[in-house]
Amino acid sequence: MAAKEEIFVGLDIGSFKITSVVGRVDEEGVLDVIGLGTSFSTGVRKGLVNEIEETVSGISESMEIAERMAGIQLDSATININGSHISSFNSKGVVAVGKANQEVTLEDTFRVDEAAQAIQIPTNKEILHIIPRIYSVDGQEGVKDPVGMTGVRLEGEVQIVTVAQPAVKNLKKSVSQAGVAIDDIIAGPLAASKAVASKREKELGCVIVDIGASTTGIIVYEEEKPLYVSVLPIGAMHITNDIAIGLRTSIDVAEKVKLKYGTSLAKSVAEKEKVDLSEIDINEEGVIPRKHVAEIIEARLGELFSLVKGELRKINRDGQLPGGAILTGGGAKLEDIDSVAKSILKLPCVIGKPHNLKGIVDKVYDPRYSTAVGLMLYQFEESESKGGSKQVGVAIDRIKNVFKTFLP
Ligand SMILES: Nc1ncnc2c1ncn2[C@@H]1O[C@H](COP(=O)(O)OP(=O)(O)OP(=O)(O)O)[C@@H](O)[C@H]1O
Ligand SMILES: [Mg+2]
Repeated sequence: MAAKEEIFVGLDIGSFKITSVVGRVDEEGVLDVIGLGTSFSTGVRKGLVNEIEETVSGISESMEIAERMAGIQLDSATININGSHISSFNSKGVVAVGKANQEVTLEDTFRVDEAAQAIQIPTNKEILHIIPRIYSVDGQEGVKDPVGMTGVRLEGEVQIVTVAQPAVKNLKKSVSQAGVAIDDIIAGPLAASKAVASKREKELGCVIVDIGASTTGIIVYEEEKPLYVSVLPIGAMHITNDIAIGLRTSIDVAEKVKLKYGTSLAKSVAEKEKVDLSEIDINEEGVIPRKHVAEIIEARLGELFSLVKGELRKINRDGQLPGGAILTGGGAKLEDIDSVAKSILKLPCVIGKPHNLKGIVDKVYDPRYSTAVGLMLYQFEESESKGGSKQVGVAIDRIKNVFKTFLP
């Protein structure tokens, strides 16, 4: 059996499903995906735990399936937090460079990151992440790593991600009642981006749009660092609801229609294509044009991407991200969704799914598993940074040190 510290588990507690992904570091130090477990999520609404017992049993089931596949007992996991209470903003701090020779030290960067945290947040909120973004030394802006530069005044900008305290409490309670220790809690969009966005896309500036069942997570990167994180309270389940209303069917039938016949571009569907509802459920009757289903889907996606566009407008990045949009999450599996996104967002759009992994990759290379895989990768990289190259290690540790303060 592998030593405990060589195992990394990502546990994505979603509104539709709860996923556990297990990775083990092989002899060469490469992460090998050895387990995947999924259960239906019945206690999570709009990304928030709202029935603890149901969530506990969903977590237990998902972890047990992953345990069986991996052949090892799992004690802890890195989990995500989701929901529209997640918000982010940039904050700035300034300090005088400490050393007499005016050379910026690592300690100066710690102090400036700390100064940038001196902000008021609403009483029912707490800080989840503080991510150093960029520095300026004596007014010279856009410095990624100021250590070793000369100057008297060091300014730093951090991205602060906040979450609602009750959401964190319910989540922690559910995970611990399922007998799983929490290694870390990561905002959903941050985790998903870890699995799907490349360094180059993040450097150029990109947005990752994680379309789940009842939420859509958004994270914008620029200069490799997160610039904005938010979660919209709408997702692919809304499409299913629209189909159920439009076709006057049950939600279950509507979901099957969406999965089997759904497509995002009405114009690409021929008039003669039909959907026979009795083929989906013997209790249903009626034959409807497939184009009608596509129109329902396209309309809801139009609304969804207009909201995403609105989020980009808030930070003046509407149509301004050369790295484009990366769509992921189960909702991104809808045929031609990238075409709809492209025409509304006016950005290059691709579908993002986990890639470049070893092990049972055919199973996890799916947009639905981006968040769970991202959580596992987050923890893996975290541990790698401790034994890895000093520079990278220091940078990540620094984030972690600050971050840990807020994670009891
Ligand atoms: N092949 C597919 N085609 C179209 N839609 C799909 C497909 N597979 C899954 N979906 C949809 O994706 C949604 C689930 O996505 P996902 O598994 O990412 O949700 P989740 O992470 O549990 O939810 P959330 O992130 O909102 O809490 C469902 O609405 C489902 O209908
Ligand atoms: Mg999700």
